[in-house]
Amino acid sequence: MSSALKDYLNACQLRVEQALDQRLPRETILPQRLHQAMRYSTLEGGKRMRPMLTYATGKALNIPESALDGPACAVEFIHVYSLIHDDLPAMDNDDLRRGKATCHIAFDHATAILAGDALQALAFNVLAQDPSITATPENRLRMISALAKASGSQGMVGGQAIDLESVGRKITLPELENMHIHKTGALIRASVQLATLAKTDLEPHIAEQLDHYAKCIGLSFQVKDDILDEESDTATLGKTQGKDKDNDKPTYPALLGMAGAKQKAQELHEQALQSLSSLGAEADYLRDLSLYIIQRSH
Ligand code: IPE
Ligand code: IPE
Ligand code: MG
Ligand code: MG
Ligand code: MG
Repeated sequence: MSSALKDYLNACQLRVEQALDQRLPRETILPQRLHQAMRYSTLEGGKRMRPMLTYATGKALNIPESALDGPACAVEFIHVYSLIHDDLPAMDNDDLRRGKATCHIAFDHATAILAGDALQALAFNVLAQDPSITATPENRLRMISALAKASGSQGMVGGQAIDLESVGRKITLPELENMHIHKTGALIRASVQLATLAKTDLEPHIAEQLDHYAKCIGLSFQVKDDILDEESDTATLGKTQGKDKDNDKPTYPALLGMAGAKQKAQELHEQALQSLSSLGAEADYLRDLSLYIIQRSH
């Protein structure tokens, strides 16, 4: 990772940590246990890749970071909710997440379900009401709609449903790609889209190029997640290594072999860069993030 990207990621991480903290209900507010669980799962952990993409898209479009705090938090709240539910025994049955006990282990199953539900509601309220958002009322509505579509049955939740239906089955490469595009790609795409909607009068072809970039990295992100599940170790990942094989999940390395999966990630990175070819140095963080996604160690 370039040192410029490292500094930028650190700055974004600090910024989003504070923004998330401010928007989460305090632990002292009733119901305390629910609020504790929401804060436990959201704060102090994770790469914050989705907020980073929102801020980096903003950088490419000359949007001040302060106007993106709300959208950055909204995507991260949806993401954390998806992780809490993904880890439940009814889904992937994981007990480690971001280097600590998963929400249902640290609290209890019902609290984990409710913490996820409440984080999802919070995400939409942030988009609807957050004073940091300076977009036109029409674009604010478009943000709400984009996040709803990316999260729901035709987005992340739909992808999770396909994932669970596919356990133990042999699926084809197009089916696997469709699953990944939905379960992970959709929310990553929304992270970029919300930033483009923060800009009034953005030329449609620029929005389309950024959307194409986001589709490529959304898929490469999950290809790499599958690779890491096989190649990395639990301490580095902060989640249990080897879970996909244990749970008999279809993955890119399982279908294409490890070399094939790595080649796929590389191709997607090249396509992502291609999508940004009409943009100048202002899009360099987006370029760096695409490379980071396929080179990361966790
Ligand atoms: C993990 O996402 C779940 C997937 C969608 C692959 P991340 O790898 O972004 O998890 P955190 O936020 O860094 O913990
Ligand atoms: C999860 O994919 C995608 C979500 C919508 C949470 P995984 O099940 O592969 O994510 P990890 O590996 O548990 O983080
Ligand atoms: Mg899963
Ligand atoms: Mg999982
Ligand atoms: Mg995984």
